[in-house]
Amino acid sequence: MTEAVPLCRLEEIEDGEGKGFVLGSGTARRELFVLREGRRLWGYVNACPHAGTPLDWRPDRFLDAAGDHILCATHGALFEIESGLCIAGPCKGDSLTPLPVALDEEDRVWLLEQPSEGGSKGVSSS
Ligand code: FES
Repeated sequence: MTEAVPLCRLEEIEDGEGKGFVLGSGTARRELFVLREGRRLWGYVNACPHAGTPLDWRPDRFLDAAGDHILCATHGALFEIESGLCIAGPCKGDSLTPLPVALDEEDRVWLLEQPSEGGSKGVSSS
């Protein structure tokens, strides 16, 4: 069980988009991203199930042009925002690794459980 980690304030995540984060460094480095729709949030490990590369095609850009799906920058796989399920592309049927995120009463965004093989200490936005 890991401690909850504060990631950022809600307004730092563009509504209808997302924000990437890096936890730790070296072998403990883990990348994740949080998507926002109003006050709803979804967190995922920033690694495509196809080849393991980060999904963002530009910093903090994770969605397709319509804003309906998560888009992998490497080979164009599309994932459902709410489930992380790949619905098109080379890893169709696979899923992103979800991470529990939450918003508190002061509009701070928290990562409730760190990605496995963590052990990181610091948090910085990417
Ligand atoms: S690495 Fe994401 S579709 Fe190939």
